[in-house]
Amino acid sequence: MTDTNDAKATDSNLRTSGDPLERIESGVRGYAKLFPAVFDRAVGSTLTSEDGRQWIDFFCGAGSLNYGHNNPAAKQALLDYISRDGIQHSLDTVTAAKVEFVETFEELILRPRGLDYRIQFTGPTGTNAVEAAIKLAKQKTSRSHVIAFTNAYHGHSLGSLALTGNRFYHSEFYGSRNNVTHLPYDGYSVGVDSARLLAKMLEDSSSGIPIPAAIILETVQGEGGVNVASDQWLCEIASICRHHGIVLVIDDIQVGNGRTGKFFSFEHAGIKPDVVCLSKSIGGGLPMSIVLIDPEMDVWKPGQHTGTFRGNNLAFVAAAAVLKNWADPNFESEIQNRSEVIQTKLSSIQDRYSHHEFDVRGRGMIWGLDVADGTLARTVIDDCFANGLLMEASGAEDQVLKIMPALTIPTALLKHGLDIFGQAIDRAIDRAINNNADAKDSSTSNASPAMPSLEWPADVTGIPMPGSMTSQ
Ligand SMILES: Cc1ncc(COP(=O)(O)O)c(C=O)c1O
Repeated sequence: MTDTNDAKATDSNLRTSGDPLERIESGVRGYAKLFPAVFDRAVGSTLTSEDGRQWIDFFCGAGSLNYGHNNPAAKQALLDYISRDGIQHSLDTVTAAKVEFVETFEELILRPRGLDYRIQFTGPTGTNAVEAAIKLAKQKTSRSHVIAFTNAYHGHSLGSLALTGNRFYHSEFYGSRNNVTHLPYDGYSVGVDSARLLAKMLEDSSSGIPIPAAIILETVQGEGGVNVASDQWLCEIASICRHHGIVLVIDDIQVGNGRTGKFFSFEHAGIKPDVVCLSKSIGGGLPMSIVLIDPEMDVWKPGQHTGTFRGNNLAFVAAAAVLKNWADPNFESEIQNRSEVIQTKLSSIQDRYSHHEFDVRGRGMIWGLDVADGTLARTVIDDCFANGLLMEASGAEDQVLKIMPALTIPTALLKHGLDIFGQAIDRAIDRAINNNADAKDSSTSNASPAMPSLEWPADVTGIPMPGSMTSQ
């Protein structure tokens, strides 16, 4: 055998022996275990693996692909840009791609909403934006304390981690929560108005909580279990911030970029945060993060908060291309139509299993079905994966099945994915009932309704089969 053949044989052994990276990649990998496949191609809302399997995508790169995989406008703009040898890396120097992004963002997003934010470009992941926002708030107020909320998720660098709620991620052992207090998020505890509680604690000089530099929150907690704050609660928090001169930081990393049906998730409540963190889908599928800063808050000195990858020009190009969706007056109403399709389906599942006390929560195109049981949720996710649907769970116990497709998913594909989801729930509950009934004859058990077989509708996937993939 030649060297080349040897290499090929090794490669094919690895491929047939299952997960090719199990051997060498750190044990920290998570999604690779949840989704056992070698993904190779993706178009719009479908993914294809190396061995030709296909999935509808309700996971959406954890919220980074709101405009779909390889969005055609972004793809063409990137191909053109690379072909003409456009600048790729630029720190914070001025480039044509950056100017185009900033002007597009101003024209299509800020100005129509009456917003006058300044834009800070940070390192490319969400947690970089959170770190910058908190540091700025501390600098502006000369205070050190920050208030975050139960079930919050703000990232994994140590400052952001201190604000994140989940104990699985956070250990006092490697990241102290000094200067952070977590208070109950809206609806955390039945009968507790946590905005009033917060107001009282800040008025009370003996509550143990100092007046903080910042209050940071997500208007919908994506990782925390799809918990939706009411508009009223958000207005009350904004008013508390104004009263005490506290910087209100909205972390719109997951639920900004149209996820809740409007570009910014806080638009529904009519509030204007002092600082907004945006990442994930802002880069049109490529890494990019920004912090939007009220002009009065912009106390940075040149170069005071820096980072090598603040100038990912490919992301600027893709971002400017996908932002053009917001010039379409129907874009928001189309998100709303799809939102109703999801909500209707989840409500019908909830009604069908009313004795299980499932909870349906969401807004726009982020929805959760809380099945109150992480094991049940995992069974459903595995079943969905086996039947062509990619999705994940969130919440403290991973008990909330999260539906988060691209904003641009064709309705037929959305409905097909929801059918796969519904059938996975039926099967998982059926199995749980049968397990509980132990030796009981499955034919006499409380079986779920007969399920129609699901044919993969090639015409709605919009993705050609491997081998015929020369164009999209
Ligand atoms: C609300 C929110 N903030 C911050 C982050 C951290 O972003 P990244 O993982 O890109 O650092 C996430 C990631 O899921 C998020 O959902």
